[in-house]
Amino acid sequence: MAEFRLPANSRIQKGRLHPAPAGATHTLYIYRYDPDSGQRPRLDRFEVDLAGQSMVLDALIHIKSVSDSTLTFRRSCREGICGSCAMNINGINRLACTTSLHDLPREIKIYPLPHMPVIKDLVPDLTNFYAQYASVKPWLQTQTPAPPDAERLQSKEEQHKIDRPAECILCACCSTSCPSYWWNSNRFLGPAALLAAYRWVIDSRDEATGERLDALEDPFRLYRCHTIMNCTDVCPKDLNPAKAIAELKKMLLERQG
Ligand code: SF4
Ligand code: SF4
Ligand code: FES
Repeated sequence: MAEFRLPANSRIQKGRLHPAPAGATHTLYIYRYDPDSGQRPRLDRFEVDLAGQSMVLDALIHIKSVSDSTLTFRRSCREGICGSCAMNINGINRLACTTSLHDLPREIKIYPLPHMPVIKDLVPDLTNFYAQYASVKPWLQTQTPAPPDAERLQSKEEQHKIDRPAECILCACCSTSCPSYWWNSNRFLGPAALLAAYRWVIDSRDEATGERLDALEDPFRLYRCHTIMNCTDVCPKDLNPAKAIAELKKMLLERQG
């Protein structure tokens, strides 16, 4: 029988204990990894008093200021808008800044977004993710010049169609929860980039619909989606990338007939 040995950096060792200076309300197990150190990743245990703290991001900021200033994570807006604090919290990809401590047990496990290279601790390398987003040309493409005295106008209905898909904050919770993306992230665009592609395909002002669909007609870029639906389940903005992908597949079928 074939035997497989996992790469060293995928095997997590027991980490350090950071006891609370005076009493703890919560225990947080947090993934720690510094690829430059040559050490394997470890799971540190932080006992912390989180009385008065609301969100998981508050807990991380508290730990960084009280227990271990080397803990590394991304965050910016603190309001669920920038998408930078996405991480895996108790097994689910979510935004740390909008995940309430009151909705979680007293023991919380935090890992970076799954199946991504790790830059440090909770910070994944999103280079490929952003390159895939850029590859769908997420901007308006037209040949017809804009009217000289007005914007390119849409009806309310046309605008309404793109309202929701345009709310994507590129947090990557969806793509990194998708098993098809885990195994083929070099060739499958993943739900976030495909939602963006869909948003421009259905934009009434865009004149590159045919070229956009041509670019998706590929066994990997689009068709590696097997409608597993994890993407839609985890989206913190309640968007529906799985439906957008299904619509793209439908449009490709329809134009064949
Ligand atoms: S619906 Fe498609 S993109 Fe979404 S998780 Fe499933 S396979 Fe991935
Ligand atoms: S579709 Fe949702 S989960 Fe995916 S990147 Fe956009 S906001 Fe994040
Ligand atoms: S800090 Fe911006 S989404 Fe969480």
